[in-house]
Amino acid sequence: MANLMKSFFSQCARPKGFLGNLMLRFMNFGHAPLTNWGLGFIDFQDKWTMLDIGCGGGATLKRLLKRSKDAKVYGIDISENSVVKAKQVNSKVLDKQVFVTQGSAEKLPYEDEKFDLITAVETVYFWPNISNCFKEVKRVLKHGGQFAIMIEVIDKDSVWTDVVKGMTAYPPEQLKQMLEDSGFVKVEIQRKKPSYALISCVKE
Ligand SMILES: C[S@@+](CC[C@H](N)C(=O)[O-])C[C@H]1O[C@@H](n2cnc3c(N)ncnc32)[C@H](O)[C@@H]1O
Repeated sequence: MANLMKSFFSQCARPKGFLGNLMLRFMNFGHAPLTNWGLGFIDFQDKWTMLDIGCGGGATLKRLLKRSKDAKVYGIDISENSVVKAKQVNSKVLDKQVFVTQGSAEKLPYEDEKFDLITAVETVYFWPNISNCFKEVKRVLKHGGQFAIMIEVIDKDSVWTDVVKGMTAYPPEQLKQMLEDSGFVKVEIQRKKPSYALISCVKE
């Protein structure tokens, strides 16, 4: 039983197969409270071009689209299953207002200065060489564009890092420092009990 639970929760890292699809459905609902709370801090404008990295099952893409009239929303995820699910969930506006691609935060397949807002919900734990990923985020953000990281696992020694293979937990203050080191400005942390954290910043 413990092994089955571990296999299930390890699907967070890169959903695959039957358990991966189950996890994607679970996350689309399970991450709603954190995502809606975090998005509440952003002053959305009409016609924004936005990117959600590690978009999973695509629920955040939908949530972003609702908040900016005539927006375009891009999603990218390393997992093929995530991409399939995100496309299904956004099928009505797919390739018109929502665009989903398979790929990694390490090498974003977008031109420089494309996005007004980039979000990353419950995904930075899995990014390899996170500082390089932040440089990529900065490259594709417009000047004045915002980057918003939302996380629930904030302690380095969290039990989740034992349960989920390949997961690294970053305290919000550490992410803040890394973002500042990558050249972002206005780096701010918002917190809500028990462990919600939003780390937001701006490209100058
Ligand atoms: C815990 S899930 C969160 C999914 C979604 N953001 C949500 O809130 O429901 C983490 C997601 O990040 C994706 N991911 C992991 N490493 C990635 C990388 N290097 N680049 C892009 N996506 C990645 C996984 O495939 C997975 O879909």
